[in-house]
Amino acid sequence: MATKNKTVFVCTECGYESPKWLGKCTSCGEWNTMKEMKVSSSKSGLPERNIESNTKVTKLSEVLMEKEDRISCKIGELNRVLGGGLVAGSLVLVGGDPGIGKSTLMLQVAQALSSEKQVLYVSGEESEKQIKMRAQRLSADEGDMSLYCETDIDKILNTSNTVNPDVLIIDSIQTVFSGDIASVPGSMSQVRECCMMLMKYAKQSGTAVFIVGHVTKEGTIAGPRMLEHMVDCVLYFEGERHQSYRILRAVKNRFGSTNEIGVFEMMGDGLHEVENPSMALLMGRPKDTPGSAVVCTMEGTRPILAEIQALVAPAGYGNPRRMGTGIDYNRMAMLIAVMEKRLGISLQNMDVYINVAGGLKITEPAADLAIISAVVSAFLGKVIPENMVAIGETGLTGEIRSVNQIDKRVAELSKLGFKKCLVPKGRKVTSPADTEIKFVENLGDVMKLLFK
Ligand code: TYD
Ligand code: MG
Repeated sequence: MATKNKTVFVCTECGYESPKWLGKCTSCGEWNTMKEMKVSSSKSGLPERNIESNTKVTKLSEVLMEKEDRISCKIGELNRVLGGGLVAGSLVLVGGDPGIGKSTLMLQVAQALSSEKQVLYVSGEESEKQIKMRAQRLSADEGDMSLYCETDIDKILNTSNTVNPDVLIIDSIQTVFSGDIASVPGSMSQVRECCMMLMKYAKQSGTAVFIVGHVTKEGTIAGPRMLEHMVDCVLYFEGERHQSYRILRAVKNRFGSTNEIGVFEMMGDGLHEVENPSMALLMGRPKDTPGSAVVCTMEGTRPILAEIQALVAPAGYGNPRRMGTGIDYNRMAMLIAVMEKRLGISLQNMDVYINVAGGLKITEPAADLAIISAVVSAFLGKVIPENMVAIGETGLTGEIRSVNQIDKRVAELSKLGFKKCLVPKGRKVTSPADTEIKFVENLGDVMKLLFK
């Protein structure tokens, strides 16, 4: 085999390839992300071409389907994120910071599945004994999965071909390597090549494959970001390390809706599903305290309540500080400007801190009113009535804009005891009988109702 070594430059953010080095990626516009990688011409990642055979065209209606081939993972929150279960032959990437609980989740899934299905757990990070030790600590269902501690991808695929499992788990993609590529495990070319081989394997054999990938800072070692376009599903495991809640978020899903989240709690005996995330996130909320508001945000099809806290304090020298945890900084700056202009609240000499309790990240504009009411409450030192919540997007002129799925939000709020909802005017709302709906048109209306 002639191995003519060619090098290309690949963007670690978007995977764009260029024959020459570039300071700025022309595809995604990121700086300093082009890294050199070797491509051996024999295995350039492209499938071998066979032009004569296999050129059959099929009508969509003629494609044979048994009923949808989904494997239930036995963990409800994971099934939800995957869009109703694991699809046979799919490749799922589970990414997250080191130590967040990816291996724990995979081990629990493997154990739960192995009572009915054949599961092969390949670890390049831990020995068999260590895995056994961890499995014993977990409150996982009794099952008997197969273990294989190996990092050579060719050996892994050979073994997997022999064992022929229903589910293959690779922990982690950064530790496996292909002998055909002359770079260290974890480098971009290795990670890409191995992922490509696993993809091919999954599609050919119908085995569902989970790949664990560590998110690395600045892409110095290849991270899961550059694999996103190759795989069928991308799940990110998020959460603050010092908090026990973990959120599993689907970023891409070829077989279901994205935006779904699963909520887990990390305990001494592994990950536990959180059945009622809203209640868990609101637990320990201070009563009768200014600066605390409740927000209702849609995560996929599910409404989730969380607490937003704000602190407004006199600033020292120079520019006042604005800090937001769990919300977008630019949105926060805009909302502060709207408050100053439309409500006449002067925050120029005030530090403003906003925090979403529980480690949730809120990206929806529908949280605007909750953020504003928390800040105004902190500024005025007035408490928001305990059972009152405001939902809505705020425009630059202080108008309240409508939000989607308002009925679901109101229903969830009502369920958790918030019986007075301020909602944007214009849309009809069907609410539970004991819940009072007040329509609001602009910020002034909201403030009058919240802080009479
Ligand atoms: P792990 O799954 O090893 O993380 P990753 O594979 O994403 O790097 O999780 C490690 C962390 O989880 C570790 O800091 C301790 C914590 N943990 C528990 O709190 N309880 C448990 O039962 C287990 C197994 C781990
Ligand atoms: Mg791990």
